[in-house]
Amino acid sequence: MTGERQIQGVPFPSFLYGTAWKEQETAKLTSLALASGFRGIDTANQRKHYCEAAAGEAVAKAQQAGSLSRDEVFLQTKFTYQSGQDHRLPYEADASLDEQVAQSFASSLEHLHTDYIDSYVLHGPMYRGRLCDADVTVWHAMETLHAEGRAKLLGVSNVDLPQLRALTAMSAVRPAFVQNRCFAKTGWDRDIRHFCSNNGMVYQGFSLLTANRAALIHPAMDQLARRLDRSPAQLVFRFAIERGMLPLTGTRSADHMAQDLACENFEVSAKELDRIETLLL
Ligand SMILES: NC(=O)c1ccc[n+]([C@@H]2O[C@H](COP(=O)([O-])OP(=O)(O)OC[C@H]3O[C@@H](n4cnc5c(N)ncnc54)[C@H](OP(=O)(O)O)[C@@H]3O)[C@@H](O)[C@H]2O)c1
Repeated sequence: MTGERQIQGVPFPSFLYGTAWKEQETAKLTSLALASGFRGIDTANQRKHYCEAAAGEAVAKAQQAGSLSRDEVFLQTKFTYQSGQDHRLPYEADASLDEQVAQSFASSLEHLHTDYIDSYVLHGPMYRGRLCDADVTVWHAMETLHAEGRAKLLGVSNVDLPQLRALTAMSAVRPAFVQNRCFAKTGWDRDIRHFCSNNGMVYQGFSLLTANRAALIHPAMDQLARRLDRSPAQLVFRFAIERGMLPLTGTRSADHMAQDLACENFEVSAKELDRIETLLL
């Protein structure tokens, strides 16, 4: 894996390609992302927003073509509660929560043509603002998958700080990843990012471009982008990586895939990173 980092002894790439909302184009775009150099794929067993099987088809095709071995691609998928699904459930509606996790995971392995998942993520706690018994049950079921070696790392998404603190306190296996929508107006989710770096977790940021239009068109960003001869989008991704994040992009464009990955090829000073971090504070 290029630009490889490690957490809990498991390697992960410096950028993830997100496969949400791509429907019938999922396989084609995932193949394009792999051919462009992405080595991390983010999906979910949530047919409402993702086509996990099509993402898996693209990965399997690259493996069959001999261009990629299983250990060269980082696969991340998610368990999603029934409240986040439509009628296409990846588990029995009336099964217990730990059975639903086991069923969803087994179906993910099938979709992704693999016998292990690099990172298995709870798509989000059941309720906003607190962790409930259901979340604890689901996390313990995920810990079982981790103990069996079938989920190398665990993660959680769409969490606030009290939820993350509670999950960290109750878990035997700590989250390796926290995947959140990252808003510049909160210092790019600064409190949660700091909690992650202080507790050996990696923060994954999504919607870095789509949630931050005001930052992208900010005069200071424009000035910096001109000086570096890069786009504001590349600057945001560079900033994210420099500040320890694992960014996601879901671009459909081959040019943007190349540009997003090329954000690793230029330097931004600490002062300039600070400026971006506080742009909308
Ligand atoms: N855990 C969750 O609940 C959750 C929620 C949302 C997303 N996600 C994950 O995160 C992934 C990414 O989602 P996202 O919300 O960050 O992004 P997204 O919805 O996929 O959108 C990315 C946007 O940025 C544009 N873009 C990308 N690179 C660019 C560049 N270099 N220059 C200009 N524009 C560029 C894309 O346009 P073009 O297509 O034209 O390049 C697109 O409009 C998803 O696919 C999913 O895997 C997870």
